[in-house]
Amino acid sequence: MITATAPGKVILFGEHAVVYGRPALAAPVTQLRARAVVEMGDGPEVRLVAPDLGRATTLAAARADNALAATARLMEQRAGRPLPPGLSLSVSSAIPIASGLGSGAAIAVAVIRALGDCFQLELSREEVSALAYEIERLHHGTPSGIDNTVIAFEQPVYFVRQQPANRIETFRPARPLRLVIADTGVRSATKVVVGDVRRRWEAERDRFEAIFDACGRLAEAGRAALAAGDLAAVGRLMDENHAQLVEMTVSSADLDHLAGAARAAGALGAKLSGAGRGGNLIALVDESGEAAVCDGLMAAGAARLFRSDVG
Ligand code: PMV
Repeated sequence: MITATAPGKVILFGEHAVVYGRPALAAPVTQLRARAVVEMGDGPEVRLVAPDLGRATTLAAARADNALAATARLMEQRAGRPLPPGLSLSVSSAIPIASGLGSGAAIAVAVIRALGDCFQLELSREEVSALAYEIERLHHGTPSGIDNTVIAFEQPVYFVRQQPANRIETFRPARPLRLVIADTGVRSATKVVVGDVRRRWEAERDRFEAIFDACGRLAEAGRAALAAGDLAAVGRLMDENHAQLVEMTVSSADLDHLAGAARAAGALGAKLSGAGRGGNLIALVDESGEAAVCDGLMAAGAARLFRSDVG
């Protein structure tokens, strides 16, 4: 039996703008993980199982849009040989889906690692990330590549989408970040939100370019504040980033309500994380204020909370 796991992620600064070449910062959420298990059994088929979703199929019968099958086929291509009959690939995940926490990329990375082991391939984290990007493209259309990068590297990253190669710099904050992640309970498809932002950008280029520039500046300032250990500044910049995401129309009444509740309860800052229009909010807290922020978020209607430390 071979097992591999991969973490979820949050975007600290710069979602959406990152698709348009602006810098962004993301961090893994190591406590929330996707898991892939490969086992050998009998039978002529390669089986794909997602017990959490109550789904099972075979590689031969899987539809073209089945991400698990696409990942298995990608790994067959990479290895230059088919998976052996009787193999069973099972995936499970504690990361909420369609919630901005990178569940799709985490499942892809876990499956790539497990099947890579099965084929006895030596895969660098760069290659794992590049393979996961191919799967992200099925989910998203035009992903920036930040999700697969932060999840495959499992370290905080400063990321710029650019040619010929993305700029990827891992970093450690000078002081650890304590995040409370609050789920609105509303699922939101990244592809739809990213597509909608593109249509708005096409209709109002100057305004959206200015918003993206502002997000890029906030990501740079956030990076400097993290390097200086100035958590109060990081929090303020998160608030400003949220305001830019509101301008982009990717926030929602639920997200704004949770952000207001987190700040009122003493959070240093709060913003939506990921594509938006649902999904999760992140609030930066200090040790003494954490319990009050958690209480405030639950009282404001958060469906559930997760805790994550960065650095
Ligand atoms: O997949 P999500 O919801 O975590 O969003 C990813 C971040 C975006 O910037 C909105 C899209 C992208 O490809 O970078």
